[in-house]
Amino acid sequence: MKTILGIGAGYVGGPTMAMIAKKCPEYKVVVVDINPDRIKAWQSENLPIYEPGLKEVVQETLNKNLFFSTNLSEHIAQADIIFVSVNTPTKSFGKGAGKAADLQYWEKTAREIVRSSSSDKIIVEKSTVPVRTAHAMEYILNANSKGIVFDVLSNPEFLAEGTAIQDLEKPDRVLIGGQETARGQKAIAALKELYMHWVPKEKILTTNVWSSELSKLAANAFLAQRISSINSLTPFCETTGANIHEVSKAIGMDSRVGSKFLCPSVGFGGSCFKKDILNLVYLCNHYGLPEVANYWEQVVLMNEYQRKRFVQKMLDAMFNTVAGKKIAIFGFAFKANTGDTRESSAIYICQELAEEHAKVVISDPKALDNARLDLKDIESSLVFEIDPYKAAQGAHAIAILTEWDCYRTLDYKKIYESMEKPAFIFDGRNILDHNALFEIGFSVYPLGKTALVH
Ligand code: NAD
Ligand code: UGA
Repeated sequence: MKTILGIGAGYVGGPTMAMIAKKCPEYKVVVVDINPDRIKAWQSENLPIYEPGLKEVVQETLNKNLFFSTNLSEHIAQADIIFVSVNTPTKSFGKGAGKAADLQYWEKTAREIVRSSSSDKIIVEKSTVPVRTAHAMEYILNANSKGIVFDVLSNPEFLAEGTAIQDLEKPDRVLIGGQETARGQKAIAALKELYMHWVPKEKILTTNVWSSELSKLAANAFLAQRISSINSLTPFCETTGANIHEVSKAIGMDSRVGSKFLCPSVGFGGSCFKKDILNLVYLCNHYGLPEVANYWEQVVLMNEYQRKRFVQKMLDAMFNTVAGKKIAIFGFAFKANTGDTRESSAIYICQELAEEHAKVVISDPKALDNARLDLKDIESSLVFEIDPYKAAQGAHAIAILTEWDCYRTLDYKKIYESMEKPAFIFDGRNILDHNALFEIGFSVYPLGKTALVH
């Protein structure tokens, strides 16, 4: 039985390796991580991440051909193919701080692979990395005196959280970048063979390594750019009487543009969009392309503007002060169907409201544990309440920050009756029936639509 190893048991490594185990029962799939708590959680009923459908895939394969372990060296030695899905956060120190990718976890992993290997291996870059990282990794890996040869492939992951299982099961494409040498092509063929267990051949795209690495950064930049573009029009709509949804539909019906990813919001969050764009910006500057760098940086700046604008709108509507006012936050996760809060706009918005001395009550069906960690510095001025009805009791305002389905169907009449008057709703995701809320008595502030104010 051939062994495939996944290093890094996070949001990418865990679900991806579980899917490989499910689709390739003749392979033994092992996932290792330096974090023993994470590994223990993967082996338990309470998986370390919430992702619809993930539990079923893990339960189907766990201890049959899917194993979790903290023993890196033993499993590296046994593996033929190693997927590396360790984190590549934005560098927080030294040269490039705040923009460049911090590759220390990747490099440590590469050195551990060299130390524990005694045979040739294919190393697969799953993490999102700067263009030409594979070159550096191949250099480190092949600088060994054991005569072992490592082939590095770029195989970026395009799954989105909340839909990871369906994205893995039916990907739009699988991208494999490899060297244009005979060895490189052989490595590509081996990885392609693995994916062909469930992905149609025509959806597997092979390119050179650098195109593959750049395509991942560019894909995230293009997606985020669409959100910033639509968000940039929301203040314009609010002042002119245009409706952002009508505009978005009219734009998206052009088949050259397409309708997806044009939903206005309080700003995109998630661990990757900002990180990957800033990395692209850093690389552009590094290669002497400041105009290109500035072009992409604007996507992040527009996102920050949208977050600030949302808080400002709350202040303007609530007579320029929220001091002492209770504000119920509905949704803290960076998007629905995940407990992940990394880079969630809710972090910024709650911090700003606390700074204004509001009494912030945070509600979310899956993300309260992470919210507590994100806001531990200001925890004393916050309340965490899973029940949205209790969170809204006695509040002056509700702010919808995550598009969870459960917030669409609440009894807003009952909520209105329990709130201070005038009662405000700021719908940062435009998921509610604004006319119905206005009829109930709320003053309603949607995004990119005229406010309905009593
Ligand atoms: P994560 O932080 O959830 O997981 C990374 C894991 O790697 C952690 O559990 C950490 O303990 C482990 N790790 C770090 N160093 C290690 C080492 N030396 N040996 C073993 N384990 C080690 O991160 P993530 O969200 O899964 O992202 C991983 C990579 O995938 C990033 O480069 C990210 O940009 C990319 N990516 C993420 C997503 C997503 O939706 N989260 C999607 C596509 C790509
Ligand atoms: C994103 C990409 O969609 C994935 O393809 C990629 O693999 C991943 O980043 C990554 O590299 O980490 P993810 O961040 O998990 O996935 O989730 P998205 O669905 O892209 O949402 C990102 C943010 O944009 C969320 O805050 C979401 O609410 C927001 N968004 C999305 C909008 O504000 N409007 C939209 O129309 C779509």
